[in-house]
Amino acid sequence: MSDGQLADLVTRDVDLSTRTTLALPGRAAFYAEISSPAQLAQVAGSCSWARRFVLGAGSNLVLTGDFDGLLLHMAIGGRQLIGEDDDAWYVRAGAGESWHRLVEWTLAQGWPGLENLALIPGTVGAAPIQNIGAYGLELADRFLSLEACDLLTGKIRRLDRAACRFAYRDSIFRQQGWHLDARMIITRVTLRLPKSWQALTGYGELAAELDRQRIAHPDARQIAAAVIAVRTRKLPDPAVLPNAGSFFHNPVVDALLAEELARAHPQLPRYPQADGRVKLAAGWLIEQSGWKGRNLGRVGMYEKQALVLVNRGGAPGNEVVTLARAVQADVRRRFAVELTPEPVFL
Ligand code: EPU
Repeated sequence: MSDGQLADLVTRDVDLSTRTTLALPGRAAFYAEISSPAQLAQVAGSCSWARRFVLGAGSNLVLTGDFDGLLLHMAIGGRQLIGEDDDAWYVRAGAGESWHRLVEWTLAQGWPGLENLALIPGTVGAAPIQNIGAYGLELADRFLSLEACDLLTGKIRRLDRAACRFAYRDSIFRQQGWHLDARMIITRVTLRLPKSWQALTGYGELAAELDRQRIAHPDARQIAAAVIAVRTRKLPDPAVLPNAGSFFHNPVVDALLAEELARAHPQLPRYPQADGRVKLAAGWLIEQSGWKGRNLGRVGMYEKQALVLVNRGGAPGNEVVTLARAVQADVRRRFAVELTPEPVFL
């Protein structure tokens, strides 16, 4: 594939201000919409772009300015049941599909399993990168395999669950930095939805919502509706108040520090991990540091959930960076805990 043929796919100087859910200004020097794996092979055959980045729904991205490379907008679609046995349904979806629409579709077909992950913004292709999770369930729990195009070779590789090395909001894609330079681009994801379904309603706020609705034995669609109700109450709609969901990871610290902090702050929410370490609630640490509902410039930490950074209108990316650093510094000073941002900075 020559650069001339590749050029047919590419547009120059594209405005990105409506392409990310934080609504930050910026332009891409080159932009291509990718609707099939074959088009990725074309990109792989060309070395004319020093920098490449993959854009999905832009729901986990902080644009810090203009991007001087090639932005690949992932638009590979399609979703289907690829198999069924006594144990499970197997569902495959293109990387450009909306995650929430996939969840809705599986529930409408009568295949439960993804209900706790309803209303998470973003695309199917982005879901494995940070192993999306909510209300007691992670993508990894329902994941079978993915296909990704290796841009070094132009070949499609299949990665199973072990190869993806999933952890809390983490995978091999983040560990290797593949999401930063578009070295490996996810094209399709296959999920396994077990037929031995059990309702996962242990998460406090979800249980409380089902209680409120007086549902003792919820089915999967009722759980999805409850998740949607909780999320809608606490998390701002990006179309109304631009944001990227949780802005920091919940920090995982060693048991000694967690104990020390709990002695000084008995209210500190703590979640013991399998490896002996303890996960802390970043939202609580940020609130206690005085940032809940507080603004700096045109950005701020959301008044109903301090972990969500919101753009109050017209802020450029550097204001996001300044606020994130101020919050990190105050949490570090007060609790000796380091917060790590969840979104990718471009
Ligand atoms: N909290 C506060 N103040 C706040 C926010 C939270 O004190 O302003 C406390 C809560 O009272 C609670 C604890 O912190 O005791 C945890 O809060 P919450 O249940 O709201 O969940 P979270 O830990 O803040 C995580 C995920 C969310 C996911 C929810 C539900 C991360 C970084 N975030 O938030 O994911 O929806 O649990 O499972 O793990 C996302 O990643 O974008 C996201 C929204």
